[in-house]
Amino acid sequence: MAVHEGVHGIGESIKRVEDARFIRGKGTYVDDIVLPGMLHMFLLRSPVAHARLVSINADAALALPGVVAVVTGKDLEAHNLAWMPTLSGDTQAVLATDKVRFQGQEVAAVIAESPYVAQDALELIEVEYDPLPVLVDPARSLEAGAPVIRDDKEDQSSNHVYHWESGDKDATERAFAQADVVVNLRTHYPRSHPAPMETCGIVADVNPATGKATLYMTSQAPHAHRTLFAIVAGLPEQNIRIKTPDIGGGFGNKVPIYPGYVVATAASLLIGRPVKWVESRQENLISTGFARDYHMQGELALNRDGKMLGLRVKLLSDQGAFYADAQPSKFRAGLFHIVTGSYDLPAAHVVADGAYTNKAPGGVAYRCSFRVTEASYLIERLVQTAAYELGIDPADLRLKNFIQPEQFPYRSATGFEYDSGDYPAAMNLALEKVSYRDLRREQEEMRAQGRLIGIGLASFTEVVGAGHGKDYDIAGIKMFDSAELRVHPTGKAILKIGVQTQGQGHETTFAQIVASELGIPSEDVLVQYGDTDNVPYGLGTYASRSTPTAGAATSVISRKLRAKAKKIAAHLLETSEEDIEWETGRFFVRGAPDRAVTIQDTAFAAYTNMPDGMEAGLEGVHYYDPPNMTFPFGTYAVVVEIDRGTGEWKVLRMVAVDDCGVRINPMIVEGQIHGGLTEGFATAAMQQIAFDEDGNCLGANFTDYLIPTAWETPDFETFATVTPSPHHPIGAKGVGESATVGSPAAYVNAVIDALAHAGVRNIDMPVTSAKVWEALSQAGLAE
Ligand code: CDP
Repeated sequence: MAVHEGVHGIGESIKRVEDARFIRGKGTYVDDIVLPGMLHMFLLRSPVAHARLVSINADAALALPGVVAVVTGKDLEAHNLAWMPTLSGDTQAVLATDKVRFQGQEVAAVIAESPYVAQDALELIEVEYDPLPVLVDPARSLEAGAPVIRDDKEDQSSNHVYHWESGDKDATERAFAQADVVVNLRTHYPRSHPAPMETCGIVADVNPATGKATLYMTSQAPHAHRTLFAIVAGLPEQNIRIKTPDIGGGFGNKVPIYPGYVVATAASLLIGRPVKWVESRQENLISTGFARDYHMQGELALNRDGKMLGLRVKLLSDQGAFYADAQPSKFRAGLFHIVTGSYDLPAAHVVADGAYTNKAPGGVAYRCSFRVTEASYLIERLVQTAAYELGIDPADLRLKNFIQPEQFPYRSATGFEYDSGDYPAAMNLALEKVSYRDLRREQEEMRAQGRLIGIGLASFTEVVGAGHGKDYDIAGIKMFDSAELRVHPTGKAILKIGVQTQGQGHETTFAQIVASELGIPSEDVLVQYGDTDNVPYGLGTYASRSTPTAGAATSVISRKLRAKAKKIAAHLLETSEEDIEWETGRFFVRGAPDRAVTIQDTAFAAYTNMPDGMEAGLEGVHYYDPPNMTFPFGTYAVVVEIDRGTGEWKVLRMVAVDDCGVRINPMIVEGQIHGGLTEGFATAAMQQIAFDEDGNCLGANFTDYLIPTAWETPDFETFATVTPSPHHPIGAKGVGESATVGSPAAYVNAVIDALAHAGVRNIDMPVTSAKVWEALSQAGLAE
């Protein structure tokens, strides 16, 4: 019998070890780092969205006592640093030299003895701008004759960024030709900002004596950033050390490389003193990695009784002025082609194009595995629309079209191989928990009394855990991940992982994996990450990849050490290895369970009493390249009521069923799901970054950019089904994003359901009271 008792292994909801420091205010964030002789950097940003840069006069700023340097694009040009490559293979201005291309773009940097002086000096820099026409609509950007935003690129004669297709066009056309019904939907997934609690920042410390650059950075991918720094700055990679202290939330926002990181490093290199740059909330909101901003057009072909036949999608992504988000090279629209969702769709075709606009660069994986949120939203809205048009109950339409459990592994029409799933089980559990059939009856009765109740559903299938390295890379670096485990003589261990926690609780869950595999109590396993000199290479944390990749690496390396420990156990028990049995934490002789040694005994012997010829120590490293992605899924159900007097909608119930395979720490998984559900509600209800026609960002602070507090956020009722991933060593699938993926559609579908008898089938996010009020008024339902 496997004994997990006392070791706090997989499946136990132990408290997060990292919280001991977080809730006491003892975390260390980039801004907490203070080095001797440290200077402070602030960036001057463009107030306009598109303009030629005529001149910069920094004389007055330089004359201010305490100012050490003012850096402009021209200064960087002299060191070949004015432009940098992006993670998507584009180029981005570090400091503007020729033009500014979005409001908030970096124009100059002041480095001073104190942050106050640096900020004061910004106001003394005189910049002359010659305004150019501004493009904020990607469709207009692509029109003939539109001003070319990226005229810095020799081969760029329009604002077109990329074209990408997936699926089979001819097969899809044939499917549409046979359809009885074609459902259409045009929608926009609005631009959103991850808004992590901690903004982006760096303390760059280039030691003039040794040439060693130690960079304390807010980075979700420290190793990949180190490699790119080495390439951009021409510094030897062994001389760059990126240290990521506690990170106050990432959500995709800390994946790109920002100009501030590069300028601070260059300044430290040139001045020979440490330089700190930490952006303000406003800078974070207007200039760093946005998410979403997808204009989507979907068509779903069905026969009369509701069987889905084909899906056709056209996308236009608003990339802002630089194509700077991280996408695997082969997939220009990320993993959007998961858009066939949970449905057995015989044919699908996706056409995606990207456009430059005069906005900050965006498209980061905001609690989302590379555009999976946008894809799930589109298919669920289409399915809901189809249900209304065909007069079929939305739950029944989904159940009729799900990929069935016996169809796995299932090859989707756009080329994914779904590894496992039981979609009817998740759906039926959600329906049961929300009492769906009763609710539909009650909804009718309430309508008769004049109350507008809506029930929204969304089922989703995510694709997370990139990669396998054969198909997935970031800037050419294959998407594997790593774990290094050292068991010390006393049986205590240090686990070093290539992924980078930003609040997900890796210090707890990764120790639990070791605990289950080796029987060393999780509290005896110290988990380290985020120091490129000290932990093995990895691609970082985003897109729910940590558990499927580094979590798997942790299992594999633990098993390798267990195999070595078994040989030591045979030696200690004076028997052959074949006669040794294992149960969590101890080896014993088959048939004589009392003749046993613990894992701790074998660890001690690994340094003191190993068999002849065996290498000392109990440690090793494993680089894990997963054979496939993992495919978490679920179904959400939302009940809303609309106030006919104001258009306000209130969530009455939110039921979430998630399946992320084996849950390492169910409480942490719940926390991840709560976060995602809150973000899903935020996008559905209020959260969007808008721009006026001059390219002014209208979401530059938390008064204009609304994020829900505990006050507005509805309660969640969460449930699980467990379908282990067949190829993952412990059957776990990633979970970090799923709630963000599924829930926005469920909320919007619920509002539309309440408005259905007003004929409303399409309403774009954020679903404001004003929009609902307008629909009510037009249908004569307003009071
Ligand atoms: O890459 P990221 O850590 O954001 O996402 P993840 O791998 O989906 O994991 C998020 C958190 O949930 C981590 O602490 C995981 O170890 C934990 N988790 C879990 O306990 N069980 C799972 N099946 C999946 C994740």
